[in-house]
Amino acid sequence: MTSRDIISIVDLTREDILHLCSFGAQLYAEDRSGQRLARIDSLKGKVLASLFYEPSTRTRSSFETGFRELGGFDPIGFSGTEGTSVAKGETIRDTIMMMQANHADVIVMRHPVDGSLQWAADVASIPVISGGDGRNEHPTQALLDLLTLYQFNNKKLDGLRIGLGGDLKNGRTIRSLTLALSHFHDVQITWAAEDPLGMPHDLEQNLRQRDVHVERKTSVAEVLESCEFYYMTRPQLERMKDVSQREIHALLKRYRIDAEAIAGFTGRLLHPLPIDSRLSEITADVAFSPVQGFYAQAEFGVFMRKALLYEILHDVPHALFSGELPHELQSGNNRIYRAPSGKLVGEKFVGLIESGICLDHLRLGTAQQIADALELVNRGAGVIAATWGAKSFLKTSLDALTERDLKTIALISPEPTINIVRDRAVQDKYVYLLCENDTCITRVITEDVPPKFYYDGNLRCRYCRRPYEIRNQKVLEDERQRFLNELAKSVHNL
Ligand code: CP
Repeated sequence: MTSRDIISIVDLTREDILHLCSFGAQLYAEDRSGQRLARIDSLKGKVLASLFYEPSTRTRSSFETGFRELGGFDPIGFSGTEGTSVAKGETIRDTIMMMQANHADVIVMRHPVDGSLQWAADVASIPVISGGDGRNEHPTQALLDLLTLYQFNNKKLDGLRIGLGGDLKNGRTIRSLTLALSHFHDVQITWAAEDPLGMPHDLEQNLRQRDVHVERKTSVAEVLESCEFYYMTRPQLERMKDVSQREIHALLKRYRIDAEAIAGFTGRLLHPLPIDSRLSEITADVAFSPVQGFYAQAEFGVFMRKALLYEILHDVPHALFSGELPHELQSGNNRIYRAPSGKLVGEKFVGLIESGICLDHLRLGTAQQIADALELVNRGAGVIAATWGAKSFLKTSLDALTERDLKTIALISPEPTINIVRDRAVQDKYVYLLCENDTCITRVITEDVPPKFYYDGNLRCRYCRRPYEIRNQKVLEDERQRFLNELAKSVHNL
């Protein structure tokens, strides 16, 4: 695993996971036999950059503890962005570059936006380990969860019966844990939650494609009857817009884990923690129950993260900072090129513009909104915003659109067709794709992440890895196929 990034649990193989669990178990055994510092020279002189844009107690401290126990320096970085230049608008890209300029050998980062960790890894020339990105993934949590299951289940991860509860929709631990379990045989997942907190459709579909048995039950009691491990999660209030604490209380009513709910349960109750004491998704008395396994689970986080840091960094020489960025970070692969007609175009299409840009197939009534958002008038461009049948279009004498312009347009009206007009003829024509996941990093204009896709049987966003469906009806089947054929087959071949 030398020098690897850890961004998605899907990128690890079954063998990688079993190796890390076995190594984590060995570190645990060393610890319990008084050998906590047995590997103190392993990362001597190494620097960990710990960048936590979001709050954390366990993930940050366990990485830092593991790193110190391997002999690394005290970490650099931040916990919360107040007092950093992020508060002045500095991008992820520049923050990553600055950590490398400060001689970091590895970066551990948590960020509230989906896909931000893949972007950080693209920018960095040193390993990047995700401490969680938005509601997307938390791969090292999944690894420590698996180490916990491995330890509590006689070192076996096949044949597990696991129940899930709490907030399956907004929590990243559920996504990473269930995808991690998909590396193992004969795993059965059951879950119960109210609809707004239920398992996301794309995740359920992905798990089924990966041969995991997933079943929804109607009550916690039914789930507990069918599982050996019950994994409860915290409702992610901070990721739910316009939902009050009172509403979450109502959603949890039938699904809270209290002493009564677990009476008779003989398995183990796990939770990635923290438990929200205001919502009490697990009530206080349960912490003293013999089925409680979540405090031990948290300590397994130290052993797993120590194992990971050791595997990724030992015997790796210091990286020398070049001060340069990879050029491929400048452009995306999100344009479906269409055959330009080349012919002279008439009044109804480009009106009076000789040369410029015509945005076609815009959502009805959005042309003026786009002209305003792009501030075309202030930029000295002639503008005609119009509606033609069921669509709107926008003609401007502007010479070129920046990536930020294109994103602005696609955020208002997805999949616009961009016609580049020269001498009253369309010279270049493409449909611009932007990930539809509202919380994907590619939609954050100020981060300047060029949209990228790959095709593994589904068209997917490189950053948040959500599936994407091309909807522009004008794209011909051969144009669509050509576009898909030219894409990388996995996130790593881009
Ligand atoms: N489980 C977990 O990620 O905890 P923290 O948010 O405290 O890091």
